[in-house]
Amino acid sequence: MRRRLLRRETALALLVLVYACVSVVAYTDVPRDASEPGLSKIERRGLDIWRRENCQACHQIHGFGGFLGPDLTNRVTDSTSDEEFAAILEYGNGRMPALGLQPPERRAVLAFLRYLARTGRAIPEPLGARRSVPPIEHHRLIAAEWCEAEGRELEPAVRRGCEVWTREQCGKCHVPFDRGTKLAPDLSGATTLRSAPYLAELLAQGRRNMPSCELAPDEIADLAAFLDWFCAHRGELVETNDRMLARDEFSWRDIPWFEYR
Ligand code: HEC
Ligand code: HEC
Repeated sequence: MRRRLLRRETALALLVLVYACVSVVAYTDVPRDASEPGLSKIERRGLDIWRRENCQACHQIHGFGGFLGPDLTNRVTDSTSDEEFAAILEYGNGRMPALGLQPPERRAVLAFLRYLARTGRAIPEPLGARRSVPPIEHHRLIAAEWCEAEGRELEPAVRRGCEVWTREQCGKCHVPFDRGTKLAPDLSGATTLRSAPYLAELLAQGRRNMPSCELAPDEIADLAAFLDWFCAHRGELVETNDRMLARDEFSWRDIPWFEYR
């Protein structure tokens, strides 16, 4: 009788012990911490900001999250500069709210996004299917494509203005038909100020994020002619641009898996 009682007590004690062990394992983060690749200190801080600002309510990571903004898994890489996103993270753009992030916070959140980019591709992309153009060349390429399609030539002043635009890299900030991440206005809008005297003053002095640049008066007149031409043909040029950037027709099913990236 006594021995049976003892065995029962041992069994009970063993059960309680097992229960305690399971609870400890289940409710502590120890094994998870060990299996998660470590974030550096700055990336960790970026993740905290990502959570604080609830970025994922609007942005996806590997397809998970809100759909108001784009998937950010592969948007920021080692080859994109912090400077490129400074304006949007501070002042917002369109439906992206002005979060007022200051340089240390911007650096942290971008470090976290760079870490994300190293975790793989969110959206598989067929190799070679996406056509993109370098921003600095974008306006020039649209003009060239328009000339070819229409079988027309640019007037000399317009052509020279286009060369000045490309040489001075205005397209680094001014994206055609859109407001780029640097918040520089699209200059093809009907209300944009771009007369030669206005340009002369603006380029001599610069303004906020617009740097000054030294140009000769005839170069400025050419630039004004180019911008006037771009604005006057805006409708056609939007179509030219769409055509230029159109992807080749393809079917996902016809592409073998090893041609995805
Ligand atoms: C209320 C929704 C919302 C929140 C919250 C939000 N975003 Fe955005 N974000 C957007 C939208 C919409 C865009 C696209 C804006 C546009 O059209 O230019 C965008 C654009 C961006 C871009 C530029 C993407 C590109 O391809 O140029 C970055 C980078 C970005 N957001 C980062 C963040 C980060 C980091 C946070 C949190 C700290 C955040 N966003 C919070 C809605 C949001
Ligand atoms: C580093 C980015 C950057 C570069 C490079 C740049 N701009 Fe700008 N530009 C801006 C920004 C930002 C604004 C808006 C300034 C403001 O009002 O805050 C602007 C404004 C303008 C405006 C005024 C539009 C208006 O409606 O008032 C014109 C015109 C202009 N830029 C022409 C040019 C030309 C021409 C070049 C090349 C010689 C150039 N920009 C290069 C950033 C840039």
